[in-house]
Amino acid sequence: MRITKDKLKKLIKTKLNKAGLNEDHAETVADVLAFADARGIHSHGAVRVEYYAERIAKGGINTNPDFKFEKTGPCTAIFDGDNGVGHVAAKLAMDEAVTIAKENGAAIVGVRRMGHSGAISYYARQAAKKNLIGLSVCQSDPMVVPFGGAEPYYGTNPIAFCAPGINGELLTFDMATTVQAWGKILDARSKNKEIPDSWAVNENGEPTTDPFHVKALLPVAGPKGYGLAMMVDVLSGVLLGLPFGNKVSSMYRDLSEYRNLGQLHIVINPEFFTNLTEFMQNITNTMRDLNHIKPATGFKQVLYPGQDADIREQEYGKNGIEIVSEIYEYLTSDIVHRNAYDHKDAFAE
Ligand code: NAI
Repeated sequence: MRITKDKLKKLIKTKLNKAGLNEDHAETVADVLAFADARGIHSHGAVRVEYYAERIAKGGINTNPDFKFEKTGPCTAIFDGDNGVGHVAAKLAMDEAVTIAKENGAAIVGVRRMGHSGAISYYARQAAKKNLIGLSVCQSDPMVVPFGGAEPYYGTNPIAFCAPGINGELLTFDMATTVQAWGKILDARSKNKEIPDSWAVNENGEPTTDPFHVKALLPVAGPKGYGLAMMVDVLSGVLLGLPFGNKVSSMYRDLSEYRNLGQLHIVINPEFFTNLTEFMQNITNTMRDLNHIKPATGFKQVLYPGQDADIREQEYGKNGIEIVSEIYEYLTSDIVHRNAYDHKDAFAE
């Protein structure tokens, strides 16, 4: 079914507010989730609301966090999220990074002790909307086999990048370092759809097409994605003095526990390197150049990275966002959560 972004955001906000988040925090989380759905990143949209609601009810999200921001150098800072909702901590930390980079040319802001923060291009785009380059990486719970390994070590550890073009255009790239994000498996489960055999492995480490048989995810491009996941874990975990590797907390194991996750925002101010207008014009030129590359057989057009999401956002903006009816029914019901996630084996069938 289709729904406008505004209506979806309102429903998410109301549900999270009912679950125990204050107005402000519910508003921010709803904005991040509606952003994801509006760009077709359904794995990180409204599908997550019930999980957050249950985690709030069980005590695994601090609904009254005492955020602390500490500058540790001219361009560096730590934002302590006090295990409140990750979306709010990540957003506020990026606001601080933008301020630092405007003044000093660059900023590196670590977010410590936070919850899950959703589709992290949201934060990289915050910087790009202020004519800066944004880069964000974060930890996620261990569910990915290292190259050559038979048990999970790293998370799906995403990387998001955004650079500003002219006329408000944004060049946005946002990827899990796995072939697919875990949320895509959840999305496939919610739609009862098969997954490609390149995404994940079953209990024997064999490729599987059944989303209900997934026991671990595969890194993108073998040892290269594995290396990127390592890099993300060092930057958003080890660097911030947080649990790392397979010590990172689980999404589902115990919903009464805080997650203590980390995220790192890196912001670069192009004005400290080149002429800003020229830079932004050239970002737009890059986007156009890519669109004019001769398409390979079977392709209509080369899209710049993230253009698929830009196209979906435009289409959804006109015709409404496509969401699964079960999610709509949950959002419009009186149910806050149905005890569906606590102590759940994420890989259970
Ligand atoms: P994806 O595989 O759907 O897309 C990856 C990137 O490729 C995107 O930038 C997309 O716009 C681009 N792309 C896809 N098709 C394209 C095409 N035909 N031409 C040009 N560009 C194309 O994304 P993935 O890896 O499944 O990640 C989904 C979301 O999950 C992201 O928003 C990520 O931040 C989020 N995530 C969040 C985590 C967390 O713990 N907070 C953990 C893992 C992922």
